[in-house]
Amino acid sequence: MNINIENPAVSAILKRRTIRSYTENPLPREAIEKLLECAMWAPSGRNSQACHVRVLTDKKALDAINTDFKNLVGWDTPAYTRWDTNPVYQGAPALFFIFAATKDNMNGGIMVENIAIAAESMGLGSCIIASVGSLMDAEEGKKWKKLLGVPEEFQFVISIAVGEKAEEPEPKERKPENFRIVEEIDYEAL
Ligand SMILES: Cc1cc2nc3c(=O)[nH]c(=O)nc-3n(C[C@H](O)[C@H](O)[C@H](O)COP(=O)(O)O)c2cc1C
Repeated sequence: MNINIENPAVSAILKRRTIRSYTENPLPREAIEKLLECAMWAPSGRNSQACHVRVLTDKKALDAINTDFKNLVGWDTPAYTRWDTNPVYQGAPALFFIFAATKDNMNGGIMVENIAIAAESMGLGSCIIASVGSLMDAEEGKKWKKLLGVPEEFQFVISIAVGEKAEEPEPKERKPENFRIVEEIDYEAL
């Protein structure tokens, strides 16, 4: 068997970190389009392809979403990381929203990871963001769904900020004990 264990996809997965500081550079359109293509090619259960993606790059609108979000959850609530300094979209130049007719967490999660890994492979940073869902699923969120061009009854699934990194954070500790290969079953222990 000829397996190429060390390859760019594996390095992107291992190198990716959540980025919460971005430069002001806008994302080139080709990068956004390629990330959308990577999202579109994510697998989905029974090939439902139920998720809809909207990429918001309008800074004024991103700031307005931050204001609406903080007005809803509280300006001093640590409902998201670095609540005191960072807007909910982490100051990134683009925020990808994933919506679906139902709360399709599995398919949306798989799709958002495609975007995160593809972004890392392009040298870009990303931050998966669930917290903005509390705004999107609230009454006030209907306005934003309408402005983003999805039916107001759609559910927010997940979002992801993408942009040029302005930080290189240390990796967060992992729990290797959670991962095991089971080579042989000890039936006698039953
Ligand atoms: C489903 C999900 C939701 C998340 N929501 C947020 C969020 O709302 N705000 C935020 O700043 N980070 C959010 N994160 C990022 C996590 O905090 C981050 O992935 C975790 O701390 C591990 O860090 P790492 O991605 O650098 O390994 C989310 C990540 C996932 C997978």
